[in-house]
Amino acid sequence: MIKKVIEDAINQQIVREMYSSNLYLAMSAYFASINLNGFSNWMHVQAEEEMMHALKFFDYLIDRGGKVKIGQIAAPPSEWESPLAAFEDALRHEQLVTGWINELADLAFNEKDHATSSMLQWFIDEQVEEEATTGEIVERLKLIGDSKGALFFLDNELKQRKSEPKQSGE
Ligand code: FEO
Repeated sequence: MIKKVIEDAINQQIVREMYSSNLYLAMSAYFASINLNGFSNWMHVQAEEEMMHALKFFDYLIDRGGKVKIGQIAAPPSEWESPLAAFEDALRHEQLVTGWINELADLAFNEKDHATSSMLQWFIDEQVEEEATTGEIVERLKLIGDSKGALFFLDNELKQRKSEPKQSGE
């Protein structure tokens, strides 16, 4: 049976992952509204990934005999000043998520919950990738500056991102 303190922390993380999903869905809508459909697609796929993260925590808690409680999810913003502002927000958010995952890992370690530590390793690795890919787009948008041509070139590239098929055993 999972300890209550770990159960509470995972339930809190489920809400945070759902918020992340909604945040990126809001960004997807923002990009669609300014006709950057590649950026919109990228954020749409990102929103799906965040929901997958929430479900991973959800399934884990059930597997451990814990009680899932879905808490209140705050509304995300719906407008950004520019594509760069939206991606800077996304990067800041991912850095925040990395901090929360690290706190969870510290808690699991202190509570000697080895199964939770093992499960969290996937998220620790995932955060490295999430920050790197989001950070790369931030840097490219800074380089692009006011160049509409370069912006549409990147938009075309981001159109290629596809949803990841759910891997077996996850
Ligand atoms: Fe689920 Fe992007 O962290």
